[in-house]
Amino acid sequence: MKADVQPIIQVKDLYKRFGGLVAVDHVSLDIHPGEVVGLLGDNGAGKSTLIKMISGAYKPDGGQILLDGQSVSFATPLEARRRGIETIYQDLALCENLDASANIFLGRERMRHQLGILRVLHRSFMLRESRQVLDQLDIRIPELRNPIRQLSGGQRQAVSIARAVYWKARLMIMDEPTAALGVPEQLKVLELIRTLRDQDVPVILISHNMQDVFAVADRVIVMRRGSKAGERKVSETNENEVVSLMVGAEYTQVIKQLHDAPDLHITTHDESEKDVR
Ligand SMILES: Nc1ncnc2c1ncn2[C@@H]1O[C@H](COP(=O)(O)OP(=O)(O)OP(=O)(O)O)[C@@H](O)[C@H]1O
Ligand SMILES: [Mg+2]
Repeated sequence: MKADVQPIIQVKDLYKRFGGLVAVDHVSLDIHPGEVVGLLGDNGAGKSTLIKMISGAYKPDGGQILLDGQSVSFATPLEARRRGIETIYQDLALCENLDASANIFLGRERMRHQLGILRVLHRSFMLRESRQVLDQLDIRIPELRNPIRQLSGGQRQAVSIARAVYWKARLMIMDEPTAALGVPEQLKVLELIRTLRDQDVPVILISHNMQDVFAVADRVIVMRRGSKAGERKVSETNENEVVSLMVGAEYTQVIKQLHDAPDLHITTHDESEKDVR
């Protein structure tokens, strides 16, 4: 991360409630070019709600989002995407009945003139460009004209990432991109995240898989009950500290007491790793 460079995204005091429940409680954060930021927190901590506000799916009840230093407000995810904020949602997929190429160009279709007057989709152009960006990223989709719903989970994530690369996204947000994938596909998604970073596109990665996050992230932001519980460079923290931030001081103390109790043996992740060596 280059500290002297202006953040691409600045979130200031973002706030969202659903009825009486405060889902995101005055959260602020900065995302810089070319960094991968893990967004962590227990179920219901507010991670998805936070990124949905950044990506135009939810309207914030308070606070501000700055893109390249300018205040923005997106009415829809498409509007955010057109400004360079690409999102893979936990619960929303690509357009299932369209093919990969149509998804890459969704909302930004290339048109051509037919018979001098009619404007029609320029399918061959879009297919050619899509094939090129997929090849460039070493993403294999044998039949580009098949609807997205026929692709594997990993291929779908890959199509979203190809879209971000093709349109030179300013920010890629991924909400649980590897949760439903097998191991080879998970590794491919992690590799693509590194490719995005190398192209200076920052990534916000939400994942319950802490090992994935530690494998690719430069920084982690931890949320607890709607608030930001902490922020750490990955090189300066470890999984135990992050879990403590996730659960809060009171539970950390309970876990420590259980751990120290002579007649109880609690296996931490670190110890279980040692066991298999
Ligand atoms: N559309 C909604 N309507 C009402 N309540 C909601 C809605 N979306 C989220 N919530 C509530 O807001 C809180 C934060 O939810 P959110 O989905 O942002 O958490 P999360 O950190 O993404 O959790 P998970 O790890 O389970 O995906 C939860 O209490 C959730 O039940
Ligand atoms: Mg979520």
